[in-house]
Amino acid sequence: MLDLAAAIAHHLLIFGLFGVLAAELVLVKQSMDQAGARRVAAIDLWYGVLAVLILVVGFSRAIYAAKGWPYYSHNAFFWAKIVTFGLIGLLSAPPTIAFARWRKSGQAPNQSQVASIRRFLWAEVALFPLLLIFAAAMARGYGVMGPG
Ligand code: HEM
Repeated sequence: MLDLAAAIAHHLLIFGLFGVLAAELVLVKQSMDQAGARRVAAIDLWYGVLAVLILVVGFSRAIYAAKGWPYYSHNAFFWAKIVTFGLIGLLSAPPTIAFARWRKSGQAPNQSQVASIRRFLWAEVALFPLLLIFAAAMARGYGVMGPG
């Protein structure tokens, strides 16, 4: 039961995170005004909350779910997934910092700022499918690392 609940939560949170990312890509545009900058900063808070919850639920699954921690800790796709998630987290830092600055400055961002932040957002989107690929592979026992 716990495994089922965690699996459902995992998928719902992931859709939520991807939804936030998609919303940011829609909102961060050249014609963006100060109200848009405030909105994107508010939405970005959810990005952080969802990312933390995904980490908590994800590691709970890896440690307490049916297969157990030794299964995942010896799986290369599991670690590839964690590294990719970390990279996406790093890529999300410049947008978060920019959104906070735009909100505080009281001015709409200029064209080159918008273009630069959109590149970070697209890079996150580009890495996202890897998470799904690695997840499917690790769940099916591919990528087992042998001893030594
Ligand atoms: C946005 C980030 C993530 C995405 C898109 C994602 C995606 C997925 C998907 C699609 C599955 C189902 C795989 C399948 O049954 O075919 C899954 C399972 C799982 N994920 Fe994630 N995941 C993410 C983050 C994490 C994190 C941070 C952890 C931390 C350890 C984690 C741990 C797990 C575990 C333990 C399973 C169960 C695999 C199994 O059934 O053996 N995930 N994930």
